[in-house]
Amino acid sequence: MNEPDRPAAWSPSSWRGRPIRQQPAYRDQAAVERALARVKELPPLVAPGEVDALRRHLADAAAGRAFLLQGGDCAERFQDCSKEPIEAKLKILLQMSLVLTFSARLPVIRVARMAGQYAKPRSADTELVDGIELPSYRGDHVHRIEATPEAREPDPERLVEAWLRSAATLNYVRALLDGGFADLHEPQHWKLHFVRSDAHRVRYEALVERILDALDFVESTGVRSEVFSTVELFSSHEGLILAYEEAATRGLEDGGRTRYYNLGAHMLWVGDRTRALDGAHVEYFRGIENPIGVKVGPSMAPEELVSLLGVLEPDDRPGRVTLITRLGAGQVASALPPLVEAVRATGRTVVWSCDPMHGNGIKTASGIKTRDLRAIHEELSQTFDAHERLGTVFGGVHLELTGEDVTECVGGPQELSEEDLARSYETFCDPRLNYAQSLEIAFLLARRLEARRRCHTP
Ligand code: PEP
Ligand code: CO
Repeated sequence: MNEPDRPAAWSPSSWRGRPIRQQPAYRDQAAVERALARVKELPPLVAPGEVDALRRHLADAAAGRAFLLQGGDCAERFQDCSKEPIEAKLKILLQMSLVLTFSARLPVIRVARMAGQYAKPRSADTELVDGIELPSYRGDHVHRIEATPEAREPDPERLVEAWLRSAATLNYVRALLDGGFADLHEPQHWKLHFVRSDAHRVRYEALVERILDALDFVESTGVRSEVFSTVELFSSHEGLILAYEEAATRGLEDGGRTRYYNLGAHMLWVGDRTRALDGAHVEYFRGIENPIGVKVGPSMAPEELVSLLGVLEPDDRPGRVTLITRLGAGQVASALPPLVEAVRATGRTVVWSCDPMHGNGIKTASGIKTRDLRAIHEELSQTFDAHERLGTVFGGVHLELTGEDVTECVGGPQELSEEDLARSYETFCDPRLNYAQSLEIAFLLARRLEARRRCHTP
């Protein structure tokens, strides 16, 4: 693949000269500019020091000294900017991270798909709803989901609304973490009764008991505040609507040069549909200081991935790039090794993460989008196997999950069937793991991480 000409000069708006995909078609550009001017005036959501800290943590994940847990909704909804959904998501992420830390004996880097995950790429510009052709739903960032032409009209005011709701979400998350999120300490807050299989339930309960016991011991030594006040949680979303991301970008003078940070989130990722080498998204992503993720789907050729890394991170700073493979359970064994080998041959340092969700989407006979837990397990297991064989570090996972008891994915500890999907199917976009399914994935990862630790410690 030929590397397109790329001027050395980057600016927060240099993407504007490039071919762009997946943008809303606003009718009133002046209204868009007014909304973006307001976003620019509002205070940042995150601080540059936090962004730098996340990059250092991710450098540890690349080296096998930490593990990345990234997760949250496929499409965050404006209505989820309220107390219970935020608490539920925070709780499941923290519980999963405790299970992982305990088993892997590694720090877990928690990155929520939250506080800004409001915009979605779509495979078609329009969709048929009850026989009417409408603009496809591109997320609450853009318009409302209701199936009417008025609701689907892109509304520039939502650019400001997204910023404000992200701020409110992050504010409450920070308050809960500051307060120690005491819920975690009580066994009754670990809802394990959902596990149908007795053998699994007994094993999970024993593990949780050991975790709570370890926490109790640490606290009895008087370092409780230490343990919980240092819990960090970072925010992330797909950097999709570039005019919004540009407005979130602030320059910081640093010894005669300007560093640009996107202060709308700690981490951003570029999606599998917008990662074109000569496209606008890659142009924007290459210039920001933030750690970035790159979704790597089955259409990515190894040499293309190498070129992409050369453009996105010529300096090869550890922790800057996380490659999120989402190949699908059926393809991972054949597609992952050539990608890993090509990157390894460049000598570059990346975090290898796996998104076992987006390559495993299926539709039921009645047309409902779902995912089967068995395929998700399978992709994760095979990704572990592949990295183990190649001697590279499997450094993290990227999941679509919610802390609530929805029924969107089939299988898992409650053995949800296709018939169960109708009960509580809430997602505005892709199906998410519910609380029980998320915890089960954490137990599965814990088993593999513990085995890896034992195999590496003499
Ligand atoms: C997503 O993460 O919701 C998504 C759209 O993923 P991908 O870009 O990997 O398809
Ligand atoms: Co998704």
